[in-house]
Amino acid sequence: MPQVIETIALWRSARAKHRAAGQSVGFVPTMGALHAGHRSLFDVARRENEIVLASIFVNPTQFDEKRDYEIYPRTLEADCGLMDAAHVDYVLAPSVAQMYPDGKRYTVNESPFSGELCGAHRPGHFTGVLTVVMKLLQIAGADRAYFGEKDYQQIELIRGMCGAFFIPTAIVPCPTVREPDGLAMSSRNSRLNPAERAQAPLFHRALVQSSTASGARSTLEAAGFQVDYVEDRPGRRLGAVRLGATRLIDNVAR
Ligand code: PAJ
Repeated sequence: MPQVIETIALWRSARAKHRAAGQSVGFVPTMGALHAGHRSLFDVARRENEIVLASIFVNPTQFDEKRDYEIYPRTLEADCGLMDAAHVDYVLAPSVAQMYPDGKRYTVNESPFSGELCGAHRPGHFTGVLTVVMKLLQIAGADRAYFGEKDYQQIELIRGMCGAFFIPTAIVPCPTVREPDGLAMSSRNSRLNPAERAQAPLFHRALVQSSTASGARSTLEAAGFQVDYVEDRPGRRLGAVRLGATRLIDNVAR
């Protein structure tokens, strides 16, 4: 089992010990409810580093809807089983008070990309993400940190932040892991009812198969999805949709 660490001070002393031994540290930040997408990040981190640190922290400041934060799945026991199988060495699971000693006064803001795509539909979301990732990277002191391309705008913004603030941790992108029917794995998929789950793979299919972004939007709307956006950017097509109460995001190379 990974060693569960609840305080930043305890991780700092473990980190100092490994640094003194000349061991590299790979870091995988998560919000828990782990699945095969997270597992793929652990696997890459395991191959590239001597020590693997994960974090599980359901970050309140990146939820633009209070209810979404409250019902976000929290499955620490099952998560520890998955991390054990992936040979994760440590999991940092701090409290909100540990992570926000400033009472949430200080934030990391980016403009203008944070206000586009998902940011246009989730006010404040990327400020919450960048702020917590800055804190986590400072705490982890890792050589490398691993993020999924499933959250494409997130990883672009994190990469930009690390460049802007001279963060010495290398940001390593990892490809999106999908269900056999194409649906991108997500902690939120468990909220889909059977009819929604059957419909969900059309989202990926429309992104891949439509010749234009507006064509993909029409296909999805005709099938009953509520479309937040489908947009083409250099080399990528990105989208976000709602199926009932569940919001799904995805992106494909183009
Ligand atoms: P979370 O949604 O738990 O995701 C943690 C990491 O797993 C992210 O880097 C995400 O891109 C990656 N991931 C999720 N699903 C994936 C999939 N199907 N394939 C590949 N990678 C996948 O993203 C967050 O948490 C938070 O915003 C966080 C960065 C931890 C900051 O709070």
